[in-house]
Amino acid sequence: MKLGLVGWRGMVGSVLVERMLAEKDFDHCTPFLFTTSQAGQASPYEWAANDTLLDAYDFNALMEMDALIVTQGSDYTQKVYEDLYQKGWQGYWIDAASHLRMDNRSEIVLDPINANLIKDAILSGTKTFVGGNCTVSLMLMAIDGLVRRDLVEWIIPMTYQAASGAGAKSMAELINQMGSIYQTKTQASPSENILAIEKQITHNMQSEERFPQSEFGVPLGGSLIPWIDSVKAPGLSKEEWKAEVETNKILGREASIGVDGLCVRVGTLRCHSQALTLKLKEDLSVSEVEEYLKEGNEWVRYVENSPEASKKYLTPASISGGLDIAVGRLRKLSVAPNMYSIFTVGDQLLWGAAEPLRRVLRLVLSEK
Ligand code: HSE
Repeated sequence: MKLGLVGWRGMVGSVLVERMLAEKDFDHCTPFLFTTSQAGQASPYEWAANDTLLDAYDFNALMEMDALIVTQGSDYTQKVYEDLYQKGWQGYWIDAASHLRMDNRSEIVLDPINANLIKDAILSGTKTFVGGNCTVSLMLMAIDGLVRRDLVEWIIPMTYQAASGAGAKSMAELINQMGSIYQTKTQASPSENILAIEKQITHNMQSEERFPQSEFGVPLGGSLIPWIDSVKAPGLSKEEWKAEVETNKILGREASIGVDGLCVRVGTLRCHSQALTLKLKEDLSVSEVEEYLKEGNEWVRYVENSPEASKKYLTPASISGGLDIAVGRLRKLSVAPNMYSIFTVGDQLLWGAAEPLRRVLRLVLSEK
């Protein structure tokens, strides 16, 4: 199989390539590197089949591929996808961007949850496979054991989303903002007390000239942003809208699960966290819910609901860079029957973006 990679230099693409090399995916296909801006330049990787980079807008070159993994963003997808198929291409389009997620021709891929749907789709001729929104994928990975048993009636996810979800430049801006905060502190006289330093930092943060904010438009470091993505409906962000529609498309069941919450950007680097309020269909004990969560999938790391374990194992700092999905703070809530709280943390670039893409390629290779 000839596999074209588009967007491999970007953040999700880099994580994807790292994972594909670690899992030896290129032993099962022949990778070709495409570029939107540097066609003809030397390929930086010896594992690529092409010595010079191919043009990602060259339809003849794209049509040679049996599959494309695209981590270039929705703009590229909008420019190329329709034309490529209209020209008669028969290959697989595997995409990280949201543009095709709710399209009838696509399947949203998260194989620990919906491998059966994916396999059926491959066998019935579906060619378009799209990774889910990161919070949706991470949430479903976390509560897999409950969803599998059809125990979930509805979910309210309150998210704490990392800067990486907004892209590499935004992540860099967060670090610059952190630096600006630290600089303000060190510039303050050592004899000044913490409130004087805070006052100076807040003054600095409130100035567009002094505080770097061209990406987010407002401070994230030392603050948070309670709105992610565009407006989907009055008062509803697109990120919040995605939760229910994508969850139910991934599950592909007749009866849908209600999912509605608030999405918030926080000053973490690459892990999305979520506080989930769950309404279950049955009155289960906490130990039963714990057992089902642990049974979910091999990546779930259940964290005991204690201060020590929660602070040590249920944080972006401990989960970043790995495939583990930490699940903890499990409690039965007192406000109404069958209600539970859970806190979960996962790496936004791995299970939230790159990992489902490389895994669907392996499914395509094995089912074809
Ligand atoms: N939309 C997500 C975010 C990332 O902004 O965090 C990609 O799914």
